Amino acid sequence: MAAEDLAGRRLRPVTRVVPAGIALLAITACGGPETPSILDPRGPAAQRVAGLWWFLFWVSVVVFVVVMVLLGMALARRNREEEEASTDEPRWAEPGIVVAGVVIPVVLLAVAFLVSLRDMNALARLGEETTMTVEVIGHDWWWEARYPNGAVTANELHVPVGERVRVDVTTADVIHSFWVPQLQVKIDMIPGRVNSVWIEADAPGRFRGLCGEFCGLQHTNMQFFVIAEPAADFEAWVENEAAPAATPAPGSTEEEGLDVFLSTTCFGCHAIRGTEAEAVLGPDLTHLADRETLFALTVPNTRENLTRAVVDPQAIKPGAVMPPTELTERELVALVAYMESLE
Ligand code: CUA
Repeated sequence: MAAEDLAGRRLRPVTRVVPAGIALLAITACGGPETPSILDPRGPAAQRVAGLWWFLFWVSVVVFVVVMVLLGMALARRNREEEEASTDEPRWAEPGIVVAGVVIPVVLLAVAFLVSLRDMNALARLGEETTMTVEVIGHDWWWEARYPNGAVTANELHVPVGERVRVDVTTADVIHSFWVPQLQVKIDMIPGRVNSVWIEADAPGRFRGLCGEFCGLQHTNMQFFVIAEPAADFEAWVENEAAPAATPAPGSTEEEGLDVFLSTTCFGCHAIRGTEAEAVLGPDLTHLADRETLFALTVPNTRENLTRAVVDPQAIKPGAVMPPTELTERELVALVAYMESLE
């Protein structure tokens, strides 16, 4: 039987093949490095989520195929019966209808529900055995991370490989949602409340995290990295992040840059530990030069982008809270040199 559109015109095969091809491309595009796909799990929690996904997927495939076969058989039979002008009423009480319409769906839904409960329970139980707790605070539109040793950073969460790290999440403004698809399920960040989740990566790697709750204009550009590294590397990193910023050499361009920082609007929003800058409205910049990106993965952390970030942040991230800063050419060069020295 040929497919027809709503006006009854016969559809050419291409009309059916093209959407199917697009759907297939969309599915297969979910792979490769740093692609935040739940179907590419890299930790025990995500493994469980992917297992549940595939279970539900294959149950759906079997149900779909069986229903389509039965539909085809019914249509074929109806075509034959129409010729005999049958006027029979539908027979609702037939055992076949009761079994296929009530018993089988109830059994399938109950099994899916029980398997989901089992996985949710396992995810919650494993979270009781964590080795470290990191606080993550959502902001419009970036992520603040606080470590137990006093390290404060933004948009990059380092964790030791193979260790279960507890993440306590909350928000400084609206509702956000902390989500690293390759490592864990989503967890909402609710004002005035702390929610917890745990993450663990099986191997070293960099995993993209996303905000999973629409939170305004730059929701899409509210991303972060989870960087899983060997324990020794992690220890070195977290120790450095906790240390105060290096003091620039007297008379250097960097020192001039620090003075610019402390005498302009930068000072009103950002902290650089070890200096007088202690504001907490914007990201902590103590070790800014160690980060790979600016504005929560919106642009790479390069000299050019640092300069743009100071002069015209709205061009990089329209709607962001950060205002532009007016500086002379000399001040700008000094300020950027200072920020590049914050390792
Ligand atoms: Cu934060 Cu969406």
